[in-house]
Amino acid sequence: MAEQVSPMLVASVLPADFADLGRQVEEIEKAGVDRIQWDVMDGRFVPNMTFGPDVIAACRRHVDMGFEAHLMVVDPDPMLERWVEAGCEIVIVHAEATTHLHRTLSRIRDLGAGAGVALNPATPLSAVENVLDLVDLLLVMTVNPGFGGQSYIASMEPKIAQARAEIDRRGLDIELEVDGGIGAATIGAAARAGARVFCAGSALLNGPGTMTQRAEEMRNAALAEMAA
Ligand code: DX5
Repeated sequence: MAEQVSPMLVASVLPADFADLGRQVEEIEKAGVDRIQWDVMDGRFVPNMTFGPDVIAACRRHVDMGFEAHLMVVDPDPMLERWVEAGCEIVIVHAEATTHLHRTLSRIRDLGAGAGVALNPATPLSAVENVLDLVDLLLVMTVNPGFGGQSYIASMEPKIAQARAEIDRRGLDIELEVDGGIGAATIGAAARAGARVFCAGSALLNGPGTMTQRAEEMRNAALAEMAA
């Protein structure tokens, strides 16, 4: 399996202006970001609530870029098809949020979407070792989910490295993504640990310069460590 040569940048819309999402996603696309992450929260799995499939569907027609749904919800199974119908090419569930993860991942693939699984900071990689053959994207959380603007948890780097080693050892075609506190100052360490897909909200949507410049700076910081 070919080593991914360039880092993928995913924009979380969590820090976006929810009163102006159509224009915000257009701005993200213009900045050359690779994919958008929709942080779906139900107020139970995490102490916050965001948006449903209809909001994602409304933004779908504004851009051509890929969408991933990050379901920070308990029991995601009843609504899996809604996220795909809304225009998400990848649906990410939390290993901690579903009773039958093998069945859930299989169902996401049956719906024609990429199957993603996310691990909270306290959840070991072993929680998904028996279903990696059903996984297209593994999301290692580098914050406790629920809010943007939190600090990167560097102690997740051994888990990232362990995931990278396991994916490579088994020759699996799995995107290894990190999410939480990712910015120019932290993306290099996550890349050095083995991540190749980087989800950023606060550091990408806000900050000095333009979003294009911030995206470029983050990509270069990741590339420098990937090449090291
Ligand atoms: C946590 C969210 C955030 C978001 C990115 O529940 O998933 O990690 O995507 O937020 P920043 O980049 O601001 O940490």
